[in-house]
Amino acid sequence: DPQAHPSLDLTFAALSEQHRHLLQRAAEMADARGLKVYLVGGAVRDLLLYQWGRQPLPDLERLDLDLVVDGPYPLRGDGADPTGWGLILGQALQQHFPEARLEIHGKFQTAALIWPGGVCVDIASARTEFYPYPASPPEVAMGSIQQDLYRRDFSINALALRLNGPQRGQLLDFFGGQADLRQGLIRVLHPNSFVEDPTRIYRAVRFAVRLGFRLDSSTEERLRAAVASGLHDAVGGDRLKQELAYILGSRDWPTAFQQLSEWGALRCIHPDLEWDPSLRQRLQRVGYWATHFRHRYPELGSHEIWQLRLEALLLTLPQAPQVASQLHLTQAGIERLSTYPYYQKVLAQLHPELPPSHVVELLQRLRIPAVILLAAIAPKPARRLIWRYLQEWHWVKPLLNGHDLRRLGYPPGPSFQEILDQLRYRTLDGQLTTPAEAETWLKEHFSLPQRDPQSPQLKNQSK
Ligand code: CTP
Repeated sequence: DPQAHPSLDLTFAALSEQHRHLLQRAAEMADARGLKVYLVGGAVRDLLLYQWGRQPLPDLERLDLDLVVDGPYPLRGDGADPTGWGLILGQALQQHFPEARLEIHGKFQTAALIWPGGVCVDIASARTEFYPYPASPPEVAMGSIQQDLYRRDFSINALALRLNGPQRGQLLDFFGGQADLRQGLIRVLHPNSFVEDPTRIYRAVRFAVRLGFRLDSSTEERLRAAVASGLHDAVGGDRLKQELAYILGSRDWPTAFQQLSEWGALRCIHPDLEWDPSLRQRLQRVGYWATHFRHRYPELGSHEIWQLRLEALLLTLPQAPQVASQLHLTQAGIERLSTYPYYQKVLAQLHPELPPSHVVELLQRLRIPAVILLAAIAPKPARRLIWRYLQEWHWVKPLLNGHDLRRLGYPPGPSFQEILDQLRYRTLDGQLTTPAEAETWLKEHFSLPQRDPQSPQLKNQSK
């Protein structure tokens, strides 16, 4: 039976002013409309852990709140009448907070209120889900709060805190979520949970490593059985990507991948994916290099590290670009994976004795995020050259610029680039060290145009 929880206010004292204000308004508006409103999911879990002194609260400003709304009588549950109680409350809240934007999603009209600063509140109607076949998108119908909680992934995520009415502060715990939270256990609510939604395999590992929890033994059996049943083929798309983003963006990704590998669950990403120390080092390198060079190459700033890690994970596997496209990676990411044959060619040529100008010629055809991927799979001698390229050679400029060329009498045109490239390569290789040397070399190798108007083309004698 659900238990009352006495210290709601203490819990909420941990929230930001904005969140508290918002929950207060939601409660009043629900009261005025005869609705029941609950805080559910991750926020309840995290607030309880915080209240028990088990975990620090995650970034308060970015805490996402999930509300579920139940009404005085059931609405029609077939989607024909999709105006749920959640939408009614969402619209009322939006009128009260006009600075927030209201987004409405899906057949059951889940509402999301999003503030300009990024604070986000999801408001759904209590509903129940059916899976017509394994790993299919669920079909939904209106349901009670208990049914709503029962469709969720784990007991620790299936707690609901009543926000309004006389039962304000009551914690609904139908499935032993508090006990599991105290014992550090991740437990599914029904035997088919992983089969219906295989992304839960990845959620299980995410919560396990983040919270330091373990799977209860029958949950682990079910997880292994779901993997063994070959369901991994059915996983894909945005939801898996979302979970991979969480995992690869967290500090605990090595532990998470070790665990996924032990469960055999990496097959959900790619059938040939095998976790080993060298793959771990490859992913570590991506993070290290991307962080190190982020300040100098703004282009890296727009690539999140989880995404580059995921690309590094896939890079050497067969059909990596197709897999990336099933995972809905960005077009740029898919292209980087398609460039693997060129990376191999470059690596075959990156000998330690190669003059810097050759290294630059090979690497400057790649954008910086691709260079980072290349470094991730490069053996040590090649990696040294790539490091020097990013650190210094990339930035080496020719000793003369276009302005100097014009001053010396060379007419602007397509050959300018060729001259500047040649000057730059010779500077890189230490053959030219001062602008005066560069001028002398230039005059010897590129003749000035003749005054004859019939042949205005610059003659390139260096070829
Ligand atoms: N949920 C689920 N099955 C999924 C995804 C989500 O049952 N495959 C439910 C869980 O009850 C979860 C809630 O939806 O608590 C919200 O999902 P999400 O925001 O992804 O998870 P949180 O638990 O809030 O995790 P976090 O704290 O990392 O945001």
